[in-house]
Amino acid sequence: MSENLVTRYQFLQDELKMHDQAYYDQASPLISDSEYDQLYRELLAIELAHPDWVQPDSVSQRVSGQVNQVFSPVEHGVAMLSLNNALHEDEVLAFDKRCKETLDIDLVEYACELKFDGLAISILYEKGQLTRAATRGDGAVGENVTDNIRTIHAIPKQLLGSKIPDRVEVRGEVFMRRFDFEELNKKQLLVQGKLFANPRNAAAGSLRQLDPAITAQRQLSFYAYGIGEFIPASWRPMSHDQLLDQLAQLGLPISADRCIAVGPTKVLEYFHSVAQRRKDLPFDIDGVVYKVNAYELQERLGYISRAPRFAIAHKFPPEQATTIVLSIEVQVGRTGAITPVARLVPVVVGGVTVTNATLHNEDEIVRKDIRVGDTVIVRRAGDVIPEILSHIIALRPINTAVFEMPTNCPICHSPIDRQVGEAIARCTGGLFCDAQRKQAIMHFAHRRAMNIDGLGEKIIEKLVDAKLVSTPVDLYRLTNSFSALVGLLYLNPSNSQKKDSIQDKKLIQNLLDAIEGSKKPQLGRFIFALGIRHVGETTAKDLARHFRSIHGVMDASENDLLQVRDIGPVVATSIVNYLAQAHQRELILQLLAAGVEPQVEEMSISTEAFFLGKTVVLTGTLPNLSRDDAKARLEALGAKVTGSVSAKTHYVIAGEEPGSKLEKAVELGVPILDEAALLKLLGS
Ligand code: IVH
Repeated sequence: MSENLVTRYQFLQDELKMHDQAYYDQASPLISDSEYDQLYRELLAIELAHPDWVQPDSVSQRVSGQVNQVFSPVEHGVAMLSLNNALHEDEVLAFDKRCKETLDIDLVEYACELKFDGLAISILYEKGQLTRAATRGDGAVGENVTDNIRTIHAIPKQLLGSKIPDRVEVRGEVFMRRFDFEELNKKQLLVQGKLFANPRNAAAGSLRQLDPAITAQRQLSFYAYGIGEFIPASWRPMSHDQLLDQLAQLGLPISADRCIAVGPTKVLEYFHSVAQRRKDLPFDIDGVVYKVNAYELQERLGYISRAPRFAIAHKFPPEQATTIVLSIEVQVGRTGAITPVARLVPVVVGGVTVTNATLHNEDEIVRKDIRVGDTVIVRRAGDVIPEILSHIIALRPINTAVFEMPTNCPICHSPIDRQVGEAIARCTGGLFCDAQRKQAIMHFAHRRAMNIDGLGEKIIEKLVDAKLVSTPVDLYRLTNSFSALVGLLYLNPSNSQKKDSIQDKKLIQNLLDAIEGSKKPQLGRFIFALGIRHVGETTAKDLARHFRSIHGVMDASENDLLQVRDIGPVVATSIVNYLAQAHQRELILQLLAAGVEPQVEEMSISTEAFFLGKTVVLTGTLPNLSRDDAKARLEALGAKVTGSVSAKTHYVIAGEEPGSKLEKAVELGVPILDEAALLKLLGS
């Protein structure tokens, strides 16, 4: 027996206990979930090799979360267990194999659902009345939070319908929607209250308040996903999915995002579809859960120590991790916006190595007090730039310095200016600043703007540094500089073989062809490409639709601009200010003179009228159109495509596996169209 292994085992026990306490009791985790999982798995591996080391108080033998003595204890009639995790597909396959072998059947039917990232709650209903609610606590004994739970609107105080059992303990997750979390943190900032690192902590912190009046002010949500004890025995249906339907009939909130999957392939299909939709959900989830559907089979599979054998949580790759800040630098954006960026010790987050994370602006750094040398929690969600959530104060080295914003632009040395009431500081160098110049050209060439394929950041950097390009119009003059380009953009300087140089010439020709091919953009894309502050893709399209020519936009007064749908004073002023600058007007005219011809889309009146000014929400996967395509075509017809369904939504376009947006649309009576109806209305 290695002494080192014993020490490591003891270290893991202590470390995990400490993190359990920080996570469950203080709602203030010190490490990311993925790092916790890693430590926990290491501990399990050691225990597997040395079963005789396992003591009853091992972290693996108990459900985490101590009982806070301030709330009175509640003994759970049926223990509240946790789920085993699968982090990789092969672990899901192994789980399915185990189920099949134990049950001696070829295919298992699973109920698949979301794994909500909140906290587990047990709610007891007696003769339909909510009589008691408790947290999970250590699994055997939880905390009595009945008064707090009663303040959550989503949780019925009285069950509905004709199938009310004498007694049922409903189990589910209390969580906070992302929007409500952000609003809460904004309010906390105003009153200098505690800021929460994520919606899960906010939900836990809000529920475990001694004063229910405080819980009542927090917007908490709830989904039920199971039951504990129940009377009479005949009340329970045969399977988990029937149970959820039955709970829904009693008035309990049940997520519509669930399905039945037969066999592991279908189960993994659900996982991938949820992973894709995850960022569109209004709340955080950290994976999906697969449960053997039939109760008879669940009972045959049974339990191991703290988890059932009939269910597993398939977790997403971690999207948070801890790392160390090496330096804080500032970057200059297209409009001169100065963004502080932290350079980090590389860390893998959600399967991607992260070396930089945005700190947004000066106020954010001050609020989060991020310093060079700090150990920080980094989050990466979907395609967005990784950001730093918080630092871990216990790990801060001595003698760290508070970050100070530079007073001059690091690129052009012009003064940095921050207007009163604005969060963003800006370089005052305008297009004299090479950083802004490069960003402006990158924006111009972007796929959603002029769509110049192959003109990426690296090439633009070289073109600007070599002074071959200083404004977008220079791109259209590059045809005359073919040989200079071959010298400049030579793609593999270490290899001077002729074959490669022919290849490089071909690439340069492709680039020049792409530039030439960009000369007939849609008017909206052209306006967007100009990079006017506050004029995003949608506003640019609105302007195009309204004025129908670039000259129309150039001649518009502030008042004319205010007539355009969704344009308010801030945007109108920004456009007027942009066009008041001689060099910007000159740029537009030069682009036109260089042969750029913005195109105006002709639309049939009836089709246009149908979607004009309407708010549309897309949900689920459309069989033929990609989401980007559908959005672009709807916007071209004057629709505003938004991400969430509300009473103001005119239409919901629903594809396959539509999720909670469809549910909401039904609830609000919003008309729902399928892809076939959409295509008809789009005239194709
Ligand atoms: S079933 C016997 N279903 O995940 C286990 N749990 O480690 C019963 N959770 O703290 C749990 N979404 O609060 C189940 N759809 C879901 C869930 C879910 C989130 C949480 C649960 C528990 C943890 C399990």
